[in-house]
Amino acid sequence: MNRKEFVATACALCGIGAALSLQSCQKYTPQAVDFTLDLSSSANAALGHTGGYVISNNVFVMNTGAGYKAISMLCTHEGCVVSYSGTGFDCGCHGGRFSSDGTRISGPPPSNLPTYTVTQSGTTLTIKG
Ligand code: FES
Repeated sequence: MNRKEFVATACALCGIGAALSLQSCQKYTPQAVDFTLDLSSSANAALGHTGGYVISNNVFVMNTGAGYKAISMLCTHEGCVVSYSGTGFDCGCHGGRFSSDGTRISGPPPSNLPTYTVTQSGTTLTIKG
């Protein structure tokens, strides 16, 4: 590899590094959602019992026994997708933690996870907000 090729390769690698760096430092933007879940579908069978949940469109939807709740799974810090631990939500990007209702517990997230309205009509759940 001559000097010219070395410089060209180094610049290309720097560009990739800069692109990856920008991707990991994204600004959080709350998402508006409006979608339905079919309770008669086998894909949503978990919603048929208390404590069962599905994740769709980066939204966590759970049967609470008294109805349904829907919580955004986009961390309010920089928008990473959080994971459900069984007792709350954890963000693997910078250690943010939220309770099972989306309330911020610790870490850099500035606010709670947004929640959405869930309405049921027959076997159709509409998640909106
Ligand atoms: S994106 Fe930083 S804690 Fe979740």
